[in-house]
This record gives sequence, structure tokens and C-alpha cells, in this order.
Amino acid sequence: MIDLSCKYLGMSLKSPIIAASSGFTDSVQKIEQIEKYGAGAVVLKSIFEEEITLEYDKTLREEAEKTGREEFLDYLDVRIRHENLGKYLQLIRDAKSAVGIPVIASVNCRSAFEWTSFASEIEKAGADALELNVFVLPSNLNHSAGDTEKLYFEIVKNVKSKVKIPVVLKISFYFSNLAQVIRDLSFTGIGGIVLFNRFYSPDIDIDRMEVSASHVLSASGELAMPLRWIAMMNGRVGCDMSASTGVSDGKSAIKLLLAGANTVQVASALYRHGISYLGIMQQELRDWMENKGFDSVEQFRGLLSQNKYDNPGVFERVQFMKYFSDKEGI
Ligand SMILES: Cc1cc2nc3c(=O)[nH]c(=O)nc-3n(C[C@H](O)[C@H](O)[C@H](O)COP(=O)(O)O)c2cc1C
Repeated sequence: MIDLSCKYLGMSLKSPIIAASSGFTDSVQKIEQIEKYGAGAVVLKSIFEEEITLEYDKTLREEAEKTGREEFLDYLDVRIRHENLGKYLQLIRDAKSAVGIPVIASVNCRSAFEWTSFASEIEKAGADALELNVFVLPSNLNHSAGDTEKLYFEIVKNVKSKVKIPVVLKISFYFSNLAQVIRDLSFTGIGGIVLFNRFYSPDIDIDRMEVSASHVLSASGELAMPLRWIAMMNGRVGCDMSASTGVSDGKSAIKLLLAGANTVQVASALYRHGISYLGIMQQELRDWMENKGFDSVEQFRGLLSQNKYDNPGVFERVQFMKYFSDKEGI
């Protein structure tokens, strides 16, 4: 009997394949479908720090009350934001009563300030965990790498002081010493780390001569980044690791589990094939396990990580020269 269950953030999941935060996780109907097709958990579409901050900007509100000048604030904007926060908390409540799988809320943030009070409201609404999608593009010439890294630690500290539910950090790979940052963040008391987020990136349309959005959905080759880093960090971190980016099918999920991921998150594949594709991915995983003689995920998770593999150097190799000279005589 094949058992896909696994542990993530101290919770029991019926499958390591989970729905990543995206437009597919912003309504109860979609979340019910996600559960129906066997996902182990769902990460809700993120609410943005900017949506929260103004609502919590006490200075602005107090100023408006003091002066009695309602026009001091763009009230319409504040009301919309207020409704958004209410809707987000309602989504958590509704999702929790509609499905049995863990519901992980998500906040997209880039500061450790006022918005963090909202984290406790997320907890009160019943979220099982809180994923923080943190990213600051390291483009400020006046900031050192250390300044940027410090922010991540401050965010974790502030949010952890507000909630008891597991906190998960979803990060990018834009760090000068990625291994050290992953390791140090993993020992801050967070429950998990997601490697890696994937961002909106600009492209240039050469016909229209303007800047456009580049590939919104990931390509399967992008799996290489989380694969390498999860394999290298397995056994060196103090929290769970969840893989994100390039998980295009069941096979890629298997690779990441072999590398050491506790869970594997899927977004682009759902946009390409629909929510029912989660069911196909689970079946691929089940078939592979049966074929290889594994009854449970824990039997093979991490088997091909750097600390278990016979030739750990393959994960450190970065140059292609030998590959091309072997293959093509260059
Ligand atoms: C249309 C779209 C919307 C997304 N929205 C969010 C979001 O609100 N919060 C978040 O943390 N990640 C968001 N993501 C990123 C995904 O959760 C995921 O990390 C990324 O797409 C890489 O995974 P994939 O290769 O399976 O797409 C979004 C991705 C897509 C394609």
C-alpha cells in the first residue's frame, strides 16, 4: 500500500505535493478542488504588505481624527484596503471550514514594520501556518548585502513575536552567500523555508519597442535551482524545506523529494493544465514509488541529497566545459 503522507511544519499532510500561492488559491471553490485532487496543503494567494500598511497606519488615522478633515485621507482607498483585509481573513475562515487540508496564509512583505500586527489576525482567523514571501531586489547601491540580509531576520523576529503558528519564509536566490543565509534563517525558529520564489521580470518587446512582462509561467528547466540548493542544504538546516519553481510534473516533484524537500509546491503547472493536474502528479508519484518498491515518502526523501550521495562533488560543479568537450569534442 503506497502511502504519500508526510510531515511539514509539524503537521501531517496526506501528500508532499502542495498548491503554491497563486491565482489558483484565492477562492474557496478552487481550494476545494485543490483538496479534491489530492494536494497535501494549500498556500493562499498572498496579501500584500502595502494593502495592510495603510490600514495600520495609525499616524495617518490619528491625524485625520484630530483635524476632523476626512479629506486628509483618501478614504475610498482606505475603505477598499479595509475590505481587502476583511476579505482575506474571511477567505481563511471559509477555507478552514470547507477543507480538511492545512491552509497556509501568505503575506508578501518587504519590511518589518506595522503590517506585522496583521499576522496575529491571520492566526486568529484560523490559518495553520503563515508563509512570508519576502523580497527586496538588491538594486540599492547604498545598501550592503548585510543590510538586505538583516531585514529578513528582523521580519522573522517581529512576526514570530506576534504568532504561535509556524512561520515559513519564501525567499529568492539573490544572496551573496546563499548557503549561509539559508542555514542561518533556518535556525531562527521558523518552521520552513521555501526555495525559491520566482518573480515578475521585465522583457523587451522589439516590435513595439517597449518593456513588457517576460515569461509569467516557469519552464521545466528552472527546476535546476531549487534542486541543487535543496540537495546541498539537506541535513544542514534547522527547519523544513519546501521546493518551488519549475515543478512541471510528477517526475520533477520526485526529483525534489529525492534531493531532500519536505514538500513540493506547484503553481505554473496548474495554469497550464488546470487543478486536476494535481491528481495526475500524485499518480505519477505513486506509480514511481510502486515501481521502485517504496511504501512511504520518508523511505526515499533526501536519498540523493549531497550529504547522502556517493559523489557529493556533482552538486558543487558549475562549469560546463568538460560536458561540452566530452559530448561534442570542443
Ligand atoms: C500568476 C502567478 C501568481 C502568483 N502569485 C503569488 C503570490 O501571490 N504569492 C507568492 O508567494 N507567490 C506567488 N506566485 C509564485 C508561485 O507561488 C511560485 O513560487 C512560482 O510561480 C514558482 O513556481 P512554479 O514554477 O510552480 O510556477 C505566483 C505565480 C504565478 C505564476
